[in-house]
Order: sequence, then structure tokens, then C-alpha cells
Amino acid sequence: MEYQKSILCIGAGYVGGPTMAVIADRCPQYRVHVVDINEERIRAWNSDRLPIYEPGLDEVVARARGRNLFFSGEIAEGIRKADIVFVSVNTPTKTFGRGAGRAADLQYWEKTARQILENTSSDKIIVEKSTLPVRTAAAMERILHATPKGPHFEVVSNPEFLAEGTAIQDLENPDRVLVGSRETPKGVAARKAIVEIYENWVPRERILESNIWSSELSKLTANAFLAQRISSINSISALCEKTRAVVDEVAYAIGMDSRIGPKFLKASVGFGGSCFKKDILNLVYICENYGLDEAARYWESVVRLNEWQERRFVQNILENLFNTVAGKRIALFGFAFKANTGDTRESPAIEIARGLLEERADLVITDPKALQNARMDLAGLEGNVTFETDPYRAADGAHAIALLTEWDEYRELDYECIYDSMANPAFLFDGRNVLDHEKLYEIGFNVFAIGKAPLKHFK
Ligand code: NAD
Ligand code: UDX
Repeated sequence: MEYQKSILCIGAGYVGGPTMAVIADRCPQYRVHVVDINEERIRAWNSDRLPIYEPGLDEVVARARGRNLFFSGEIAEGIRKADIVFVSVNTPTKTFGRGAGRAADLQYWEKTARQILENTSSDKIIVEKSTLPVRTAAAMERILHATPKGPHFEVVSNPEFLAEGTAIQDLENPDRVLVGSRETPKGVAARKAIVEIYENWVPRERILESNIWSSELSKLTANAFLAQRISSINSISALCEKTRAVVDEVAYAIGMDSRIGPKFLKASVGFGGSCFKKDILNLVYICENYGLDEAARYWESVVRLNEWQERRFVQNILENLFNTVAGKRIALFGFAFKANTGDTRESPAIEIARGLLEERADLVITDPKALQNARMDLAGLEGNVTFETDPYRAADGAHAIALLTEWDEYRELDYECIYDSMANPAFLFDGRNVLDHEKLYEIGFNVFAIGKAPLKHFK
């Protein structure tokens, strides 16, 4: 069959896989090929058990795979055949050398630029889908145009704003799609070619065009603003606990102000996920590089407050369990960084588990989708950890439950039955403020929520 466009995506991860699946689903006239160096991931994309859990993803992949959506490890061939190459490889925080702990590690990114260069004889549009430091496109262009008489590559920025757990919904009905390019005739033409893809299903007024640096910087800025709201409300949660104000009531009241708005004001045990911390630290590093130290310190405080919120949660458990958790069974309800995903990258649960293990607690971890990742995250840590698919069995004999992920099923459990099976006095720490605290207190639990005075049966 003749396809109108041939699209390649390098990187079949949480972004590359779902994004390309939705493009292929919505645009049967394009050929969409997703490649990765990780053969196991590719095998999983071609199987009935996809490598990531995302509501609605199975159905989208089932409709398009084998029709116009293909997954393979054939990177060189994929590059040769494509007109448009999306690059969606990982850009984690650097762990070594200059900028360690803050700058983005661009080694995977740069490798793809070189792979593209080695395997191409025709002009191509290269799309930055990964989240990158502002001005990365300039470096990309320098690598791609290292050979003077080679083909022309136009680099376009098209950052991805999907959130995990709602990726398909976000991709099918995005708030906006952003496409940035150079303001040259070739740059604008390449930008239009990318806009044309999204026009197949996204209303035109939601597709924004900008200069390439604005587009790159908008992605880091969006994540920094979202995370900043969470750290702001979490800072207030600590004050609520001291003053008997209720953080959810405060959030509701301020969120009714149309200038503030209600979203991303849910106080919690802390934000996790692969993006917020990494992207803010990258922003901090960039600000420092430009000599903007005050701006760097401002954004850094968003991450530091989040770390404090996680530590505070562990301290709260420790203090309320009479200053010792050694040998006590504590059930962690949820390990994923948010509900509806099996992803545990930067999940607050990791730090909380680590903190409790340092205090020699016996941990039982339950999660509907993230147990495999939890096992890998905690491998090598000293201490007594068990993994349990059934929350009732996890709570059996426990001194305390700490709810760390807001999975719907945890709201619907029979807490009377759970209470009866636990050690006495029974404690419940709701790190997401999703349970009915008064009812739990009536059952007999000592209840500790975020940003709310505790409900205790003793002084
Ligand atoms: P990921 O780790 O899940 O996937 C990246 C994939 O790229 C991996 O499978 C890896 O094997 C592959 N890869 C690395 N180098 C390669 C190479 N040279 N050739 C072929 N494949 C290669 O990462 P992700 O979560 O999909 O994130 C990708 C990018 O998107 C990051 O920059 C991230 O910041 C950004 N982003 C992520 C999210 C999210 O929710 N996860 C949302 C928006 C943006
Ligand atoms: C984020 C951005 O939302 C998304 O636009 C970007 O493309 C990638 O990074 P993601 O990390 O997948 O998405 O999930 P998100 O819904 O933003 O949640 C991040 C963390 O913040 C989670 O741990 C979540 O539980 C926490 N959170 C979110 C809160 O604690 N309170 C809130 O009000 C919202």
C-alpha cells in the first residue's frame, strides 16, 4: 500500500509507544514505525502484553498494529525509509561529571543524531519529542550538518504533554499541541508538515506554532509550574496539621478563584514520576549556566520541598507509632507514583519504603500494577520486604497501613474487616487524602491524613 507519509519514532517508551499508536490509529494514511534498541520492549509491543499499562492503550494498538503501525529493532532501515523522524529517547538526569544530579544526560539523544546521520541519504524532518534543555536543537543541527554536502535535516520541536495514566485521553484530546521551528522558509515548511499530522484529529486552534526555543522551553516550564503548585499546597499541608485547618478545604477555597483554578492542588505524600524532578533540576542547571542564580534557587526549592514532604510522612509514622517501627509490620497500599499506571519512577513510595526500612520496619507492599517495578526498585535494600497482590492479606497482622497511591480499589475495601485483622492499636496514614477518615476513626483506626489534624483514640 502507498502511504502519504512515512513516520519513524526512535524510542518505544512511555511516550514513543502511546504517541505513535494514537497517530497511527487516527491517520491510517501514514506508515508509522517505532524502533528501539531494547529488543525485549519491542517484543512486548508486538505481543498481547504491552510493555506499559495505560488505560485504553491495548485497544488503540490492536486497531493499528500490523495495518500501519509497526514495532521493530531495525533502526537503520527505519531511518532510511522515513520522511519524518520523531526522537523520543530517554533524557534522564546526568549521574556523572559536570552537572551530575541536575543536567539532562543527552548521550542517548546524541547517539540517535549520529545514527540518523549514518543511515541517511535524503532530506528529513527531525522532531524533538523528548523533553530537552532549551537550545538543544542548535546542537542537534550542528551534528546533523557535520558533513557539508549531506542531506538537509530540519529540526522541529514538538514536546509531549501527556501524563501517565491518562496518556490516551491526553493524546486523543490534548489541551494543546506545540510545534516550534526555525523561522526560515525550510523551518516553517517543516513545522507545517508536523502540524498537518495533528490536524487529522486535533482542532486547529489547539495547535500552537512558535519559535523553536520557546517550544523547547515551554515544556520544562509547564512541568515546573505544575510541580510548583503541588509543592505550594504541600507546604500549606504542613501548616494545616499544626493549626487544625484542613488542606483540602483550603485548596477548594483557593481553587474557586478563577485566576488560580482547581487543578494540581491536591496535597499528597509528594509528587513522583519520571518528569517533574528531572525537568525542574534541568531548569535549575540551565538557569545557573546563564548566571541566573536567584531563578535557579527558586525552582530548586520546589524539589527540596517535595523531598521534605516525603521525609515528613516517614517521621509522622515513626513518631505516632511510639517512636519505633522496628519489627512492626507496615503495609504500603500502592507503590506506583500515581494511580492507573505501573510506573514507579521517582515514586514517593521508594523514599518512604527506604526510610521505614532504615528504621527496621517489616514492609508488605501491595499495588495492582506496580509490584514488578517495586521489586526492582527495592532490590539490594537491606530489610524485610514482602510483596502481596491482595491488600487484605497485606494488612493482615499489620500495625499500620500507609496509603501511597490513590488507586480506586483502595477506596472500596472493607476496612472493618481489615481493622479486625490488624494489630492493636491500628494506624492508617492516608498519603493521598482519598479515604473516609471519620468513618475509619469510627471503625477504630487512628487516622493520619495529609494537611489535617489527626483522629486519634488516645492522647
Ligand atoms: P522511556 O525510558 O520509557 O523510553 C525511552 C526509550 O528510548 C527506551 O525504550 C530506550 O531503550 C530507547 N532508546 C534510547 N536510546 C535509543 C537509541 N539510540 N535508539 C533507539 N532507542 C533508544 O522514556 P519515556 O518516559 O518514554 O520518555 C522519553 C522522553 O519523553 C523523555 O525525554 C521524557 O522526559 C519525555 N516525556 C516523558 C513523559 C512521560 O510521562 N513519561 C511525558 C512527556 C515527555
Ligand atoms: C507530568 C505532566 O503532568 C505531564 O504534562 C508531562 O508531560 C509529564 O509529567 P506525569 O508525571 O505522568 O505527568 O503525572 P502527573 O499527573 O503530572 O502527576 C505527577 C505527580 O504529581 C504524581 O505523583 C501525582 O500523584 C502528583 N500530584 C499530581 C499531586 O501530588 N497532586 C496533584 O494535585 C497532582
